[in-house]
Amino acid sequence: MSPVEGSTDTAQAASPTLADEVGAQLRDQPRRLPAHALYDPLGSALFDAICHLPWYPITRAETALLSAHRGAILESAGRQTRVCELGPGNGEKLAILLQDPLPQGTHDVHLIDVSSTALEIATARLERLPQVSVTTHVARYQDGLRSLDATRVGDEPLLVCLLGSNIGNFDPDDARALLGEIRQTLRTGDTLLIGADLVKPAATLHAAYDDPLGVTAAFNRNVLVRLNRDLGADFDVDGFTHDARWNPRARRMEMHLVSRRPQRVRVPAADLVIDLQASESIWTESSYKYDAPGVDAMLQQVGFVPAVQWHDADAGFLLTLAAAR
Ligand code: AVI
Repeated sequence: MSPVEGSTDTAQAASPTLADEVGAQLRDQPRRLPAHALYDPLGSALFDAICHLPWYPITRAETALLSAHRGAILESAGRQTRVCELGPGNGEKLAILLQDPLPQGTHDVHLIDVSSTALEIATARLERLPQVSVTTHVARYQDGLRSLDATRVGDEPLLVCLLGSNIGNFDPDDARALLGEIRQTLRTGDTLLIGADLVKPAATLHAAYDDPLGVTAAFNRNVLVRLNRDLGADFDVDGFTHDARWNPRARRMEMHLVSRRPQRVRVPAADLVIDLQASESIWTESSYKYDAPGVDAMLQQVGFVPAVQWHDADAGFLLTLAAAR
């Protein structure tokens, strides 16, 4: 199958939708941008580079846990042959889980993401595995899950993967709502594998989100390049600095773009003109950090039974397998 063959496009974050979101969030106080806007093709490539940085532990820790516990994960997940990943990135993590040999025949893999570029890259990687066939859904997670659910026949169980601490990019209410929606699409006996980054010292988090090579700064500032290109905006990219802040009360890292000087910005596709003051920030992303009891509680609240947890104490990372009860 070619990368995009068989893809469904249930809620593509196309320019009109992006324009609406950007317009609403930039008008808001504090000013914000939707975090998914960070992932245009260059943003996805920069995020891949972040995953290789020595200061960013999430990908390495999770990859090591998946490699070490692959057999146990597949065994505990009940030998599912239908697997769905929400936000697969470059497909590397699922490829570890589903590498040859697989005990239970062909795996029917569904990938859901707003970025068709990410899906193409992940599909190319996963389709190299002999026992895997891939269907992609260019959609928000919830919409993709609904379209996947509509194609389910028989009672073959499903394993849903939400890895890379992607859950951390949702505010707590939205995270619970997402997990609740995942639970609603699942049936008893289906499972969820979720990766969560844990609270760690502020200095460690700062290095992870404001790395000395400036890759995360480029990832953050690239959203302005994207808005200039896709929405006709006139952001002066050099007029903004990357700022990563640890908010201990909310237990989240925040990425901001801080205006270096007073400046006017136009976003024609959003019918918007804004005047930014010197030091005024545009909040581009939150990355919430968890602890094990918090992950447990969140899963139980929405109808999962956390079954097994694998913990990387050095990196401060947790993988949880939970069953839909
Ligand atoms: C994709 N997500 C889990 C990453 C995170 O850590 O919140 C995105 C990221 N932002 C800055 N660095 C990485």
